[in-house]
Parts: sequence; C-alpha cells; structure tokens
Amino acid sequence: MKKIKTLQCIRCGKDHKLLETKYICTACGGNLQVLYDYNLIKKRLNYDELKDNPERSIWRYLDILPVTSIKNVPPVQVGWTPLYRAEKLGDEAGINNLWIKDEGRNPSASFKDRASAVVTARALEIEERVITCASTGNAASSLACLTGSLDMKTMIFVPETAPAAKVAQLLVFGATVIMVKGTYDDAFELCLKASAEYGWYNRSTGVNPFTREGKKTCAFEICEQLDWETPDKVFVPVGDGNIISGIWKGFVEFHRLGIIERLPQLVAVQAEHSDSIKRAFESGTDVQPVSGKTVADSISVSLPRDGMAAVMAIKDSEGFAVSVTDAEILAAIPRIARGSNVFAEPAAAATYAGLLKAVKEGKVKENESVVLLVTGNGLKDIQSAMKSVGKPYLITPDLGELKKLVSENKLA
Ligand SMILES: Cc1ncc(COP(=O)(O)O)c(C=O)c1O
Ligand SMILES: [Zn+2]
Repeated sequence: MKKIKTLQCIRCGKDHKLLETKYICTACGGNLQVLYDYNLIKKRLNYDELKDNPERSIWRYLDILPVTSIKNVPPVQVGWTPLYRAEKLGDEAGINNLWIKDEGRNPSASFKDRASAVVTARALEIEERVITCASTGNAASSLACLTGSLDMKTMIFVPETAPAAKVAQLLVFGATVIMVKGTYDDAFELCLKASAEYGWYNRSTGVNPFTREGKKTCAFEICEQLDWETPDKVFVPVGDGNIISGIWKGFVEFHRLGIIERLPQLVAVQAEHSDSIKRAFESGTDVQPVSGKTVADSISVSLPRDGMAAVMAIKDSEGFAVSVTDAEILAAIPRIARGSNVFAEPAAAATYAGLLKAVKEGKVKENESVVLLVTGNGLKDIQSAMKSVGKPYLITPDLGELKKLVSENKLA
C-alpha cells in the first residue's frame, strides 16, 4: 500500500514494512503506529475535497486509513456520529461552550465500531477467515456486529462479568463467545495465546496496530463538525488508552495535513481504582498494574495495553488526567441524560464526572470549548443505570390509586 510509509514502534522507533509483522514490534514487543506518506495524502485529503465529500461515515477518510478498498465491508454506517451543543449541561458545569460527541449512535452503540470496521476491512484484504478479540465488552460486540454477515468466524473472549446486553449482542450477531472466569486482563492473555496457537487474526486493543487508525476518525469528525475549528479540550474515558492515543493521532494528522491550525488539550478520565495511566502520567514512571475495579466495566483495566501511547498523547497535547469515583460516575448518567438528552453507559458518563472535577479544580475555563466523548450508549448496561436513579411507582390500573399518589405529593 503506497500510502503507508512504515509501522513504527512507539517504544524503540524501529520501522517495519506493512507485511513484516501483523501485530507488535519485532525488536522489543512495543506497540506500533502507522505512519503515512503525508505529502502524497495531502493531494487527495484536504479541505476542498472533504467539504464536497458526500460520504457520511469513517470511509470519507479512506485516503488516510490502512485499507485499499471497502467493497466487502458491510454497508452499516460507522462514524459521522452527531456532535451536539449541550447548552443546559454546560450551564450546570459552568462551561459556555460544551459539546457532546454521541458515539452511542454507531451500529453496535459504541465508539469501538470505528476500530472494528477498519480491522475487519483489513482482515478481508489479507484474507483472514477467523478473527478474534478480547474485550471488556464493546470492542467484541462491535466486532461481532461488523463481521455478522460476513463469511468469517468471530471468536470472542470476555470476562464473565461483562454486562448482559453486550453478551446478548455478541450472541445475536453470531460470534462464538468464550466467557473467562477472571478479569478482562485474564481474557486478554488467553486470547493472545489462542491467536498464537490457532493463527486467528487478533483485533485486540494494543496488539493490532490498526485499531488506533479507526479511532482517529472521531477527531477528524470533531474538527469538521466544529466548522474546521479545534476544540480547546477533549475529555476522553480511558481504560487501555487506545481511544485517547487514537484521538490524538487524528488531531495531529489533520494538523500535519494543514486542515486545522492548532491542536487541542486531551483530558484522560479514569476510574479511581483503574487509574494506571493517570498515575504513570503524573509520576513520570512506567505504566504499572492497578486493581482495575470499577462499576464502569469498559474502563476496568488492570494493565493498560496501550498505556505508553496514552501517556504520550496526554503529554504531547499538554493535557492532564483526572480520576473519578464510582459514585460520581453513576451520578453523571442521569445528569447527562437530563442535561443533554443523551444516555451514556458508565465509562462514557465518566467524562462528565471528570469535567465537573476539572472545573472545580480550576483546570477548565468557562469560555473554553469542551468536547465530551460519550463513547457508549446507556442501554449497554442498564443495571448500572438503574443504580443511579429511583424506582418507578407500581399501582393497579385504578384512578383512585393514582389520586392517592398525587395527594401524597409523590408525583410533584
Ligand atoms: C464505552 C467505552 N469507553 C471508553 C473505553 C476506553 O477505551 P480504551 O480502552 O481504548 O482506553 C472503552 C473501551 O472498551 C469503551 O468501550
Ligand atoms: Zn520496538
């Protein structure tokens, strides 16, 4: 593929040709990043071409994706999700210019469809017939969704604690589901072994260099949807660190292509006990394992698989990291819903909890433009959502009973 210059190791800098390795650095085992011939790409991907491009999905950026053709990819719409101005929610947070990128509007209802679509397209091009993935739930359900109608076998490893809705998606889309008695990290290790043993193509985060490529498309969209402006800050929920490093790559590439003039600051939001990346960023040390325990299953990670790239993204963007408690995450779910009409799953709701904390600490100014990445829909985990709200009233179909509730002032 002429447009790709190298797969470069993030840790040691070693360059690889496209087919030299499928996954990680052959010298040090570090994660790879895809670097393109940006002068070549500039001729095809620029402001003039984009503003007239009618394609409303991630494939409008095909010129800067590691795929030559999308003819065999299912025609479900991945990407070009809405970016809403969230005025009421912004007022509540003390921010005049708040935006919500509603990633729950993707086909499997999470951000992860961006990565799964690109990896699936790539798998088709290199004629892989069995694809595998370890996941807290969303990466897997998106992979199952995108491969559902293809002549391809999809083998999924998830922790037994994965929310039922995500498991339902996996089964409905026809994936083979292996539930692991253990954590996401345990499922990840088993998936690695299975991929090595049976030659299955591994989409797992931090192993497959192409997931970040799908994820960067969200940054491209934000710039276009803000009328080619860069927001001041983007709040990103962080587990493995692949979304935040992908988002950063997207902004950097648009900047390098001359499409935007400046770069935003990225704010990594982690759950209190799943904050390995925040710790590494703040202490300047390597990413170390933590307990990983949190109600926000999608960011429940002990050892982040793309931690180094995530720390670099926060640093290079001159951003910062914030951690939030489970109580703060749960409380944010109805607040986002009532303030912006968007239903967020716990990990996604963490962004708003993080914003509130950052505002309180004086780290965000009221006139800055802020984007919250709401990475997954709330229907993915209704058990957690129900913890954040009261119970409904239960009565017989009788006006008298309703009147009793009214007279007791219960419906006020
Ligand atoms: C809804 C949601 N938000 C955030 C994340 C965190 O992304 P990453 O693990 O790349 O940091 C995930 C990952 O599964 C997710 O599904
Ligand atoms: Zn290396």
